[in-house]
Amino acid sequence: MPIIEAKGLARTFRSRKRTVQAVRGVDLRVEEGEIVGFLGPNGAGKTTTLRMLTTLLEPTAGSATVAGADLLADPVGVRRRIGYVPQAIGQTMGGTDPACLVGEELADQAALYGLDRADAARRARSLIGQLDLGGLDRRLVKTLSGGQRRRLEIALGLVHEPPLVFLDEPTTGLDPQSRSNLWDHIRRLRSEVGTTVFLTTHYLEEADALCDRVFIIDHGVIVAEGTPDELKRRISGDVVTLQVNGARERARELLAGQELVEGVGLSEDGALRLNVYHGAEALPALLRVLDDAGVTMHSINLSRPTLDDVFLTMTGRSLRDDSASTLRGPGAAGSTGSGDSTGSGAGAAREARRGQGDS
Ligand SMILES: Nc1ncnc2c1ncn2[C@@H]1O[C@H](COP(=O)(O)OP(=O)(O)OP(=O)(O)O)[C@@H](O)[C@H]1O
Ligand SMILES: [Mg+2]
Repeated sequence: MPIIEAKGLARTFRSRKRTVQAVRGVDLRVEEGEIVGFLGPNGAGKTTTLRMLTTLLEPTAGSATVAGADLLADPVGVRRRIGYVPQAIGQTMGGTDPACLVGEELADQAALYGLDRADAARRARSLIGQLDLGGLDRRLVKTLSGGQRRRLEIALGLVHEPPLVFLDEPTTGLDPQSRSNLWDHIRRLRSEVGTTVFLTTHYLEEADALCDRVFIIDHGVIVAEGTPDELKRRISGDVVTLQVNGARERARELLAGQELVEGVGLSEDGALRLNVYHGAEALPALLRVLDDAGVTMHSINLSRPTLDDVFLTMTGRSLRDDSASTLRGPGAAGSTGSGDSTGSGAGAAREARRGQGDS
């Protein structure tokens, strides 16, 4: 039986001024023990979907079973069996209390889930080790660096050893070393305890390296689904990117007429982007055609398709441009923090106890 099965999940936000259809009928199926990535640009509906699946936001339509409990009929059952680490933006900034000690936060969270003292201490020790938080347990949360705080938030989401965890952009703000440690930790969770992980990310490499399966969401709709390899195989051939000096339209016409060229597009930096069968073999002929026509160029690149090429093919836009420009913080452009009362880690459990934390 799948650990997450959602049908037609949708959420519309209405205010007097406007209506936002944040998620428009999403179907999801996640099997136990999978690491699944939810990939999409800013505002695509990732957090909204996660908040629905974690019972923090009521869907306007659709239904789901999460960790064996019905989302609408038994939200408490869902909450008991999941962990949730919210995106580090919005009012709760990931959910930690700045005035608490790190050790207290972990103990409080464990207590909220009903772990006894000995179990709580054992779990806290193990998470402190695994998430490189050693030596920080007597520190105030507000004195942690951004990355340390993020790792604490992740520890809070895992303290009760849930069989299913939702991580909303877990690695945003982490340095490369911490990011790769977290990937290892997530892999170990799955291999050692069988935890199912559902995470959102902007980072294509992350989805590619870590996830068994990926859902790509855009404008509230799932536009592609599959293993990273399956998705990439849907893009036929290799990708050749070339920058010509002027005469771009002429070059485009010439290249589009070549036998092994499947399609020619334009990337946002003005380069020509070709899908080419057997790219390496086709390249000399393509260069000759341009040379014969007197078109010069200043760069050329041959690569295997990436998840970004999948996104580009599906939507006509690049996900990479979006992720590159994503600088987060409360109120940062493109953040979705406005009016968002997302709870989490300790925050989520507190919010959950208060009842449905709708916004
Ligand atoms: N509480 C809210 N009230 C009104 N609109 C909202 C609310 N929360 C989200 N939205 C809108 O819903 C859409 C989807 O937002 P969501 O936070 O799900 O995106 P996301 O994919 O998580 O983006 P990001 O990568 O920036 O985190 C956006 O247009 C956002 O502005
Ligand atoms: Mg989000």
